[in-house]
Amino acid sequence: MAIDSEKLNAFIGQFVGDLGAAVHAGMVVIGEKLGLYKTLATGPMTSAELAAKTKTDERYLREWLASQAAGGYITYDAKTNKFSLSEEQAFALAKEDSPAYVPGAFELALGSLAAVPRIAESFRSGAGMGWHEHDDGVFHGCEKFFRPGYAANLVSSWIPSLQGVAEKLESGARVADVGCGKGASTILMAKAFPKSHFFGFDYHPKSIEGARESAAKEGVSDRVTFDVAKAKEYPGGDYDFVAVFDCLHDMGDPIGAASHVLRSLRKDGTWMIVEPFAKDELKDNLNPVGRVYYSFSTLLCTPCSRSQEVGLCLGAQAGEKRITEIVSTAGFTRFRRATETPFNMVYEARP
Ligand SMILES: C[S@@+](CC[C@H](N)C(=O)[O-])C[C@H]1O[C@@H](n2cnc3c(N)ncnc32)[C@H](O)[C@@H]1O
Repeated sequence: MAIDSEKLNAFIGQFVGDLGAAVHAGMVVIGEKLGLYKTLATGPMTSAELAAKTKTDERYLREWLASQAAGGYITYDAKTNKFSLSEEQAFALAKEDSPAYVPGAFELALGSLAAVPRIAESFRSGAGMGWHEHDDGVFHGCEKFFRPGYAANLVSSWIPSLQGVAEKLESGARVADVGCGKGASTILMAKAFPKSHFFGFDYHPKSIEGARESAAKEGVSDRVTFDVAKAKEYPGGDYDFVAVFDCLHDMGDPIGAASHVLRSLRKDGTWMIVEPFAKDELKDNLNPVGRVYYSFSTLLCTPCSRSQEVGLCLGAQAGEKRITEIVSTAGFTRFRRATETPFNMVYEARP
């Protein structure tokens, strides 16, 4: 077989970028953990100045700075030998409340990759791996990665895209956030709608503990309750609004969960399903966003579903058609895609 050297070179070029990105995940996690980006965002400085300000070893720091400059995550001025962050780099790397804050994604990636030996074994055995069995970086990274997107969209766009829900939340409603993880979405809603009461449920006790701590810190414990419960078993039967964020596909029995949501809703209630953005056909998901989701799905979502009863394994790129089937099989009579972002699809289901 004749090798097309141009195609080979293009592939090797891609490989170098990917290899750099793979190790870069660790670099970003270090940068965030030690406050390096935040300190650098205060102005241009040499490695010695940054080391003094962050109480870190200058030699290690110099190597890290070089990796960051080579990767375009920080800016280097050869004339002054100083490093800095551009406005855009600072927005994405140093401002935790910015909608484009990215370090959480790398923490999630690094935490997920810790499971590679076990997941490789699961390819042979077919065994599952529960969310709760992962490295802590998965829980922290997931919250940090998803929160900016929720902060940018949930209250301003997703909830208003649902029929009559914003009005109910403004006047006082009972809301369940199922599979709430560390509660980022629950707390954002509670802050925006002080007359409503929010119940966050997740099967993972450590995440619920974290969610309770965050609610106390954010001063919303009076209107938010977090409890450990599975999606098919959470208590309450008169919710006006139930939401699931990026977790329906993680469940072993999403149809069972959907049936439980239906039972728990008032007749005029609404279920909002937020899922990763995906088209129905594999060929249409073969792009950079699809690559991110399929990879996380191999390490996190598919094994999580496999570890639970039924083990349907929807995967993180299920697409609208499969979600429609799940929701209508469970007995919902109305379903539509309410809105979307490049990363998420938002569906509205009603009894
Ligand atoms: C990708 S995380 C999303 C967490 C959170 N909703 C967010 O958007 O940040 C998936 C969550 O689903 C939870 N989960 C998985 N299966 C569950 C089940 N059967 N019942 C309740 N929670 C479940 C996991 O513990 C995890 O917190």
